[in-house]
Amino acid sequence: MLPKLQVALDNTSLKDALASIRDIGEHIDVIEVGTILHVAEGLEPVRCLRALYPEKIILADIKGADAGSLLAKQCYGAGATWMTVICCAEIPTMTGMLDVAKSYESDKDVQIELYGDWTWDHATSWKKAGLTQVVYHRSRDAQAAGQNWGPKDLEKLNKLCDMGFDVTVTGGLAVEDIKLFKDLPIYCFIAGRSIRDAKCPVTAAKSFKSEISTYWS
Ligand code: 5RP
Ligand code: MG
Repeated sequence: MLPKLQVALDNTSLKDALASIRDIGEHIDVIEVGTILHVAEGLEPVRCLRALYPEKIILADIKGADAGSLLAKQCYGAGATWMTVICCAEIPTMTGMLDVAKSYESDKDVQIELYGDWTWDHATSWKKAGLTQVVYHRSRDAQAAGQNWGPKDLEKLNKLCDMGFDVTVTGGLAVEDIKLFKDLPIYCFIAGRSIRDAKCPVTAAKSFKSEISTYWS
């Protein structure tokens, strides 16, 4: 299956985020309200984007850590299709979100954001609890400290795919990075700065799409 393309709107204001999405929205499969935008503007960006793009998948990247069902009611109630939970959250927090997601008739879901130290025992327990999506993340701070994609990432990604997760990859991705993952059934690629800050964001979004269809069918 062709991996989806998600754009992360990690803008610091709604006005700026709407300017970022205006021209590229139609070229993108998933629109993410980034954690930074949530901190700046709460759930208003989700409401606005849902009104503007009624058919798109909209992700609320809140990286929730507790009070799962309460947070889920807020995110899904505002119009999010997916929301994120941080991998160190307890299982009841994750299933609390998932139960709210499944109470809707539409395809709402929860993505686990993989940061820092998580183990394969954790991954097994997420699977057992019914979670199906993980986001393999190179953090902005790790990237800024010079951490590159490497064989260890590919090994872990391979194992997550083998376990049956829908695996998303993100963290300072550039178009040139996409081919690194070509042997894996990646579910979705997220790009933020590489698209938003490009000289021509539409061209950047199209380049990601074209690169994805070069290596997957
Ligand atoms: C950081 C995030 C970002 O949304 C994600 O990393 C994509 O943005 P970029 O491509 O700019 O790194 O969740 O925590
Ligand atoms: Mg994000």
